Amino acid sequence: MNPFTPEIGFADHVYQSYLQGLKLHWKNELYASVIAKAAQSGQPTPQALETEMRKAPDYRLYGWLERHLQQFKYQGRHGMLPVMQGQSEALIAALDEAARRHPERLQLDPALVLPHYYTAPDFHQHPGGVWSDDIDAFAYEWGANAFSFSMAAADRPYRWMAQYLTQRFAPASLVDMGCGFGKLCIPVKQISPSTEVVGVDLAAPLLRLAHLRSLEAGLDIRYVQANAEHTPLAARSFDAVVSYWLLHELPAEATANVLTEAMRLLRPGGVVAHFDMHTAPGGVVGEFLHMGHAARNNEPFLPGLVGADMKKALADAGFVDIELVEAMTGDAAQHDDAPIAPTRTHTFTVVIGRKPA
Ligand SMILES: C[S@@+](CC[C@H](N)C(=O)[O-])C[C@H]1O[C@@H](n2cnc3c(N)ncnc32)[C@H](O)[C@@H]1O
Repeated sequence: MNPFTPEIGFADHVYQSYLQGLKLHWKNELYASVIAKAAQSGQPTPQALETEMRKAPDYRLYGWLERHLQQFKYQGRHGMLPVMQGQSEALIAALDEAARRHPERLQLDPALVLPHYYTAPDFHQHPGGVWSDDIDAFAYEWGANAFSFSMAAADRPYRWMAQYLTQRFAPASLVDMGCGFGKLCIPVKQISPSTEVVGVDLAAPLLRLAHLRSLEAGLDIRYVQANAEHTPLAARSFDAVVSYWLLHELPAEATANVLTEAMRLLRPGGVVAHFDMHTAPGGVVGEFLHMGHAARNNEPFLPGLVGADMKKALADAGFVDIELVEAMTGDAAQHDDAPIAPTRTHTFTVVIGRKPA
């Protein structure tokens, strides 16, 4: 089945690639200059470094680009949201048509009350979030595939995570919390067709798009609209409860609830694995850039995740055999004091634990 693709015109591509060029300059030259100056300044805390660095024109431009390129990406004549809004009828029709096929695989809950921590911020500066309108899902998909933070092939880390989970744990059933439009569920099912895969998310638009993309790929994946803190899924019914890039969007209390819910859903001996930005290498300089990113990109809970002891959080929820491993290698994660990356990127790690048998 040919994938449904929104219309993206030549001028839209030109505009978006201009932004991408600016982002590359931000990620390479500007970043290099900022971290060199920050390291020289010798400030003892991220806060003191922020105050000092605001005097540096390079850092002001770095911060301005980090915030505004994201706004330009979504808004304006060739922004991703207006481009999608201009064809909303066709986009909604494609989602509606998919929803009629295998409706048992798409379980939406129109009465679900979305938590305030989720609806109050416009995460990633996506106006209105990803939950308020069907077209948000297509704009988010375009952005996620075209503009990964590392500017590397956007699917690679998802394929790595899917391979890592299936090869290491061979789960017969897996639930992906905060599954978005299926970027992890789909490769898991492709690599391991016998695994029962369920995606859970709060955002109906994303789940509708995940369902469409899964049908197009010929994959039997079930999507459930629910809060990962308290799902309607049956207790002791999964071998793996995982997430990719969910935890940094949660306040600490919700993270604790997600871990408790994972414990409820897992069979004895089952595994929990959460991929996210649990560490910020580079000591004070790394932390300063990380905090700045959180503020500039509307990520209110990201600073709390980096400060949190995720191994302890898993232990508190009752998990054992806890590890923190580097994404893309599976090696033991480095300490926050490890050297900072030579170009701007996020460092991803996976925190893993096992429910006692
Ligand atoms: C940064 S996105 C990542 C999406 C997807 N995992 C990916 O990597 O493409 C975070 C996702 O978590 C979802 N989310 C946030 N809070 C949630 C919660 N409490 N329960 C379920 N989903 C949640 C959001 O709707 C969004 O789809």
